[in-house]
Amino acid sequence: MAHRIIFEPSRTLMEFRLLPGLTTAKSAPSEISLRTPLVYSENEDKKLFLNIPLVAAAMQSVSGTRMGIELALLGGLAFIFCSQPIAAQARMIFKIKNYKAGFVLPRTMSPGMKISEMFRIRQETGYSTFPVVDDQDVFVGLITKWDYDISLHGDYTVADRMISRSNIEVGVNITNLKEANNILLESHKSVLPILDEQGRLQSLVFRKDIIDHLNNPLEVHDEKKRLLSAAAVNTHDYQQRVPALVEAGVDVLAIDSSDGHTSYQQETIHWIRDNYPSIPVIGGNIITREGFRFLVESGAGAVKVGMGGGSICITQEQKGTGRGLATSIIEVAAERENYFKETGKYIPLVADGGVTTTKDITIALALGADYVMMGRYFARMEESPTEKIVVNNRVMKPYWGEGSARAREWKKLRYHQSQFVEGVEGLVEYVGRLRDNLEETLSKIKASLSTCGVKTIGEFHEKAELELVSALSIREGKVHDIYQGTDSQETKEYRELDS
Ligand code: IMP
Repeated sequence: MAHRIIFEPSRTLMEFRLLPGLTTAKSAPSEISLRTPLVYSENEDKKLFLNIPLVAAAMQSVSGTRMGIELALLGGLAFIFCSQPIAAQARMIFKIKNYKAGFVLPRTMSPGMKISEMFRIRQETGYSTFPVVDDQDVFVGLITKWDYDISLHGDYTVADRMISRSNIEVGVNITNLKEANNILLESHKSVLPILDEQGRLQSLVFRKDIIDHLNNPLEVHDEKKRLLSAAAVNTHDYQQRVPALVEAGVDVLAIDSSDGHTSYQQETIHWIRDNYPSIPVIGGNIITREGFRFLVESGAGAVKVGMGGGSICITQEQKGTGRGLATSIIEVAAERENYFKETGKYIPLVADGGVTTTKDITIALALGADYVMMGRYFARMEESPTEKIVVNNRVMKPYWGEGSARAREWKKLRYHQSQFVEGVEGLVEYVGRLRDNLEETLSKIKASLSTCGVKTIGEFHEKAELELVSALSIREGKVHDIYQGTDSQETKEYRELDS
């Protein structure tokens, strides 16, 4: 006989709806702040916050350097994946920490390169402007898509067609974006190469980026104004990996594991706390109150909640372990409350795996999550590390689980003990730039909070009222009974119910 059998089925986020509260001018969307604690800290001054409640999952197809930079600029964080060599992961963290807004480290061309070869690189990378440098890295010119016609100039060299250095306005040793912007405005040009005193290329500043970069009010940064960075670690090579990540400047670590209720995870947290007490560690994943207690008592500063719900996850099918994410958050949030009453320590909860739509995000927050971790959502963006591909006239990006055969090609780490895969690989629809997508997502989250009459996530936790909905009311909430070119599934089902 099993020790415990629960007959109440576990619930998913999509089974809940929010009831409205009183909306006033004070809870209008423009008044709402989505700032949320990232991890618990004993030292009030060292408390880390996110300005938006979203983080990108530690996955090869989601969180690389570009995602790390762009998401931190926009107020969230991407957890750089640990299923790669230690040096490669540390390099990504280093690049994020040393990122200077708007200063791009560009791909360069050499003067002797054939235009046809350069054109191939242009198609591969999607960039249309390349600086040209000699073998000492000295800047000698710029070549843009307007400087050649591939049908006429394929056999020419880059030097034949480039605009040479003497005709280009440059900045020397400029590190301030506003200063670069002023030179660009005066020069009427769209790009400014930044050189050192010896004429070596340091970076490029594009006018189109400046507006974005001067306009990142939600950016998350450390006390030296460097972007915050986050990395995943595993329970195997942490004694080598953590020192390299700390050396590169990492601000927060998360243990990447589908099951965090393990003595391995406890040992990892203890080791990090003993050797790097100032670096907070997020533990997980857990789905029970016992798992939560175990991790916080081991020293975790935040806890990831969720097992088996990820869009690429087959853990439930393979091992029979898992729980609906809503039930997991409800149980763990109640235990977090108890822990807070006992100790005064507020431990942030991260809803992870299967958070798909904006309403899922909002329901997870209402139930007690402080922020959500997502893979699929971010994999679809321009800034994820994968290349776009076209399938049946649709632009797609590959997305694969860390427990899939593809991710394990690197090394059997996260799911090392198993002889079987716990994740799959597939495609997700490309949706464009993170910045544009986030704008819509965040405005929907704010609209929900506003309808519930609250203006912070903390207040949402206290006041949200939710209701479990029936399968029929979920259907009712979708478009039905209208003809939109073809009948929707809901319309067909309604017809059947009516007849
Ligand atoms: P998604 O947002 O639904 O795509 O889920 C992303 C989350 O799934 C990650 O943050 C991990 O917690 C989890 N995950 C990542 N890779 C795998 C896998 O291969 N198997 C099971 N879960 C995974």
